[in-house]
Amino acid sequence: MKHLIEPLDFTKEEYEKIFSLVDDIIANPEDFSSVCKNKLLASLFFEPSTRTRLSFETAMLRLGGGVIGFSDAGVSSTTKGETLSDTIRVMENYADICAMRHPKEGAALLASKAVTTMPIINAGDGGHFHPTQTLADLITIRHYKGGFDNLTVGVCGDLKFGRTIHSLVRALNRYENVKFVFISPEELKMPDPFKNFIDKENYEETNDLMEAISKLDVLYMSRVQKERFVSSDEYERLKDIYILTEEKMKYAKEDCIVLHPLPRVNEISTDVDDDERSVYFEQTKFGMYGRMALIMYLLGVEK
Ligand code: CP
Repeated sequence: MKHLIEPLDFTKEEYEKIFSLVDDIIANPEDFSSVCKNKLLASLFFEPSTRTRLSFETAMLRLGGGVIGFSDAGVSSTTKGETLSDTIRVMENYADICAMRHPKEGAALLASKAVTTMPIINAGDGGHFHPTQTLADLITIRHYKGGFDNLTVGVCGDLKFGRTIHSLVRALNRYENVKFVFISPEELKMPDPFKNFIDKENYEETNDLMEAISKLDVLYMSRVQKERFVSSDEYERLKDIYILTEEKMKYAKEDCIVLHPLPRVNEISTDVDDDERSVYFEQTKFGMYGRMALIMYLLGVEK
């Protein structure tokens, strides 16, 4: 049994298997419509979500399986003091696989230690990791760029709390000659633990989006993570620090693609949506296909 708690839980070869399964699902979706018949996904969201929860649930339904779970921990027995380990041990009696989001870093890892038969998928643990968003991001980049080697990737915004960014950088760093440009204000810089595993010559840091934009093959914008701030004044001061506009996109390469995990607040102006280099809505669709392939892979289900 395998879990997906952080991006490096899968080898590059395993990602290739999943990418190839995604290609197959996109080409022949009807061939997969009942491969998970009689399988149940436990969708346990202790923290709000639109895309991740609904794409997991859609993924399982499109595979012919069923879904149980909750989208609000306030309606679960967590409110009565039940521990996460106990909740997960009970879920293992009901479901075959579990996607879980939790506000605490390390919660998914803890859940994976409590089970013996049910794979756990980390759907986001606090400001730590979000490996299935990374799957969506990798599938999108692969689709538009043909692979990952030799790319210059700018990640912009909240690099301190942005779990999608921590995960993506970790995954991309395994490919050949990938260069990162970390674009953030001083207060939201990439924390050392997420930076230390990258060779120093493979990244640079700046607070100036316009200085960086012309050299990027991929620009990954991100929201300032309001829910992780202790001070609301600090959030208000930083929240609109970067706003990508069509005017700024004039300085980007003709084939630079713009990704964003969404939800967006103000950091990408809606006038950028019509730019053909904006692929953040396609990214959500690739996320659903990626989650279909992931569920199949972790359950050992074949066509
Ligand atoms: N990208 C992402 O995790 O979105 P949700 O918070 O809506 O799931």
